[in-house]
Amino acid sequence: MTVREPLRPVLYDDARDLVRLLDQKALPAEERWLELSTADAVAAAIKDLTVRGAPAIGVAAAYALAVEARRGAGPERLRAAADLLARARPTAVNLAWAVRRMSARLGAPAADVLAEAHAIRDEDEAACRRIGALGAPLVPARARVLTHCNAGALATAGYGTALGVVRAAVESGNAISVFADETRPFLQGARLTAWELHRDGIPVTLLTDGMAGWLMARGEIGCVVVGADRIAANGDVANKIGTYALAVLAAHHRLPFYVAAPWSTVDLATPTGADIPIEERGADEVVMLAGQRIAPVGVPARYPAFDVTPAALVTAIVTERGVVRAPHAAGLAALASTR
Ligand code: MRU
Repeated sequence: MTVREPLRPVLYDDARDLVRLLDQKALPAEERWLELSTADAVAAAIKDLTVRGAPAIGVAAAYALAVEARRGAGPERLRAAADLLARARPTAVNLAWAVRRMSARLGAPAADVLAEAHAIRDEDEAACRRIGALGAPLVPARARVLTHCNAGALATAGYGTALGVVRAAVESGNAISVFADETRPFLQGARLTAWELHRDGIPVTLLTDGMAGWLMARGEIGCVVVGADRIAANGDVANKIGTYALAVLAAHHRLPFYVAAPWSTVDLATPTGADIPIEERGADEVVMLAGQRIAPVGVPARYPAFDVTPAALVTAIVTERGVVRAPHAAGLAALASTR
């Protein structure tokens, strides 16, 4: 049997000094790779969701700083690039985390700056695989697993967080299947989660965002597994808009609600979910669908891109350092000192 190349959406071409991004706006119609040579271009790609998903934007920002260093940018230009990248999106803490980690190396030789970016990429994929190994045993046998947005290989350096748990469960012989919420308005579930699971031969069925409650009521869902953009010190979880509603539904139907995320998503400097900045994106992205206007001209729309699920609704947080259950704050604090 031929083993498929693992999906890695953010790469660096060492020979030509280019950041290579799988264009997530073009999927699933087209697998198109973009080659970028400046931090400005990568910051724009982060903002317009060409590359998206908390860990993936951190890796992209790290490579953006590496490409600038390798192409001879001086300290002032590097500082400005770091600032631009860190501000590209506010909610996923992995972005600021990766820029901070890279900033500590920007005075080093360019080869070392690139090595640090490669380390961030490699460590993220390793973390995802470990999250998968720790999370897979939590998934009930033959369960139908509900996920929201895309917390897969596409959203990380590779393998995925929520979908890493799914992949590891399948690899361990558990014949699970996935329900993927379409995830309005950018359709990360319909376009990306469905695409990557289908590509890897993992059974996936697409739902629109309002269907989960009814399927839970009918006993068709075994558990929920989602990713995270930021986890506050008290265990509150910011993730794609719609996640909070799923957590409430899961609690009502007594279903486990799992959050899978690397330690780089945990932000102990943010005390609670109320302190997490929530990105507001343009209303155009809501009133338009696939280039077509779907609402009357003149009707306003809102687009908070993320919501916060209170820790009390989270059955467990799966990180590469370990699995945290209530009391989440104590569990996260205990893992903070492990390495
Ligand atoms: O707006 P996006 O597509 O970047 O939002 C992504 C999510 O909400 C993911 O669930 C989260 O970043 C975790 S990715 C492993």
